[in-house]
Amino acid sequence: MTSTHAIYPDLAGKVVAVTGGASGIGAAIVTAFHNQGAHVVFFDKDELAGAALAESLGNRVHFRALDLTDIEALTNRFAETAAMVGDFDVLVNNAARDDRHEIASVTPAYWREQLAVNLDHQFFSTQAVIPGMRKKGAGAIVNMSSIAWRVGLESAPAYVASKAAIEGLTHSLARELGPAGIRVNCLLPGFVRTQRQVDNWLTPEFEQRIKSSQCLTSFIEPEDIAEMVIMLTSDASRAVTNQTLVVDAGWT
Ligand SMILES: NC(=O)c1ccc[n+]([C@@H]2O[C@H](COP(=O)([O-])OP(=O)(O)OC[C@H]3O[C@@H](n4cnc5c(N)ncnc54)[C@H](O)[C@@H]3O)[C@@H](O)[C@H]2O)c1
Repeated sequence: MTSTHAIYPDLAGKVVAVTGGASGIGAAIVTAFHNQGAHVVFFDKDELAGAALAESLGNRVHFRALDLTDIEALTNRFAETAAMVGDFDVLVNNAARDDRHEIASVTPAYWREQLAVNLDHQFFSTQAVIPGMRKKGAGAIVNMSSIAWRVGLESAPAYVASKAAIEGLTHSLARELGPAGIRVNCLLPGFVRTQRQVDNWLTPEFEQRIKSSQCLTSFIEPEDIAEMVIMLTSDASRAVTNQTLVVDAGWT
């Protein structure tokens, strides 16, 4: 155990699925569950980064190479994996790609591709884990949205529309799955200092906007989001479902 953060004993031995776990926030989530003593399976299309992370963490962490926009492959991969490691107790729907796009250049095919990478798989990953969670009579699902849709991030309408839909999806699933003991919550990060954000969007001007928009002036790090995911999936939050947790350092 290397974590200096809270340990939730109920998470030890749990079987956890994380999508998009090879880098950024997902990698911090995979690491945090590993530090809790859970068995973690993460699905990502980045084979190099995925294999390296799994190797660095050891034998309770399994990487499955998968393009989550291929729904048939997703369904099969989740089923094969559950047959090997056991039914999932926890699902974190994290994968996304926050590409920017100008309104005039968006074609129907591009729009569909954006919704496929940012929205569709959250539903189908959930569909895949529900039978196992029903058998257990318990489960915790966290859907990763973003404050992008609440603050109206420009130049990314398909990404922003997907992130808004995820909050609606969460409410529908939480209502339907509650009687089976399955909790579904939604997390809205603000700007999180991942490598992709630093490489692509963190200009001095944007840094200034972040600092003036947040109440807290320090950057949010991937580990800050991971800690909230851990809390939302442990029994510490056993009465919490159908909720949205905003982790944005007080962005207004
Ligand atoms: N970083 C931020 O500032 C921020 C802010 C708000 C919300 N979020 C949300 O947090 C989540 C994680 O974001 P991040 O910043 O860590 O992103 P990231 O780009 O750093 O990591 C995303 C991961 O998803 C994987 N992925 C992308 N498309 C995939 C596909 N088709 N199949 C399989 N894997 C795929 C990537 O390979 C990568 O490992 C996302 O849902 C994002 O919308 C991030």
